[in-house]
Amino acid sequence: MSTEPAQTVPEGRRTAAVIPAAGRGVRLGPGAPKALRPLSGTPMLVHAVRAVARARAVSLVLVVAPPDGTTEVRHLLDAHSLSDVFVVGGGETRQDSVRLGLDALPDDVDTVLVHDAARPLVPAETVDSVAEAVRGGAAAVVPALRLTDTVKEVEPRGDGGPEPVTGTPERARLRAVQTPQGFAREVLVDAHNRVAREGEGATDDAGMVERTGVEVVVVPGHEEAFKVTRPLDLVLADAVLARRMARDSY
Ligand code: C5P
Repeated sequence: MSTEPAQTVPEGRRTAAVIPAAGRGVRLGPGAPKALRPLSGTPMLVHAVRAVARARAVSLVLVVAPPDGTTEVRHLLDAHSLSDVFVVGGGETRQDSVRLGLDALPDDVDTVLVHDAARPLVPAETVDSVAEAVRGGAAAVVPALRLTDTVKEVEPRGDGGPEPVTGTPERARLRAVQTPQGFAREVLVDAHNRVAREGEGATDDAGMVERTGVEVVVVPGHEEAFKVTRPLDLVLADAVLARRMARDSY
């Protein structure tokens, strides 16, 4: 596989979706990079790109591909009639990949949505509600759901033995956050410039923004925006797609 230089993205459009898709997905088990694994016969990344492109607010989509896989991802998108999607190579961590995506955006993009390729089934309405909240004046917006499980804080132990519980946060105050996370562009760029690589919030862009002192707000997420991480999630994703197809054919 050869690598391609980053593409130049044309100017004149304002809300961009950046899709980090450079992860290996080791928790899913051996095989292709996670974003390229099929769901109902179509790669997860293609579902994720279509999901954000369907949103009214999104005018530009940029995929951050594995650094040694930009050509493969380009061909994959072309083969699915997604030639207007831009592709750049990613980095070692998710944080690096998002920053490389941000660097490739044209100057006149003022709102950025960051959406994990690993959340291929997010409804367009969720994407639009995040973008609208940013356009309405919020600097940083995350879709989130209330928790069904009670959560315990523990003292982690590396030896596999029972871990002592150190606290039980009040469930009503907790939210599980999803993507797309939406930002005023300069707020996200500032966070990427100021928050250390490998820092605490590195798995979550909003977490990085919080650490710069900017307020992050939450809008309702959607149960179909779950992250495909473990093998059982693939089963669930196929079931959601089958349900959508059955609905569409009525
Ligand atoms: O590993 P995790 O599930 O948290 O990854 C979330 C998203 O970040 C995935 O879409 C994955 O492809 C992406 N990622 C990336 N570059 C990395 C690691 C993860 O774009 N180096």
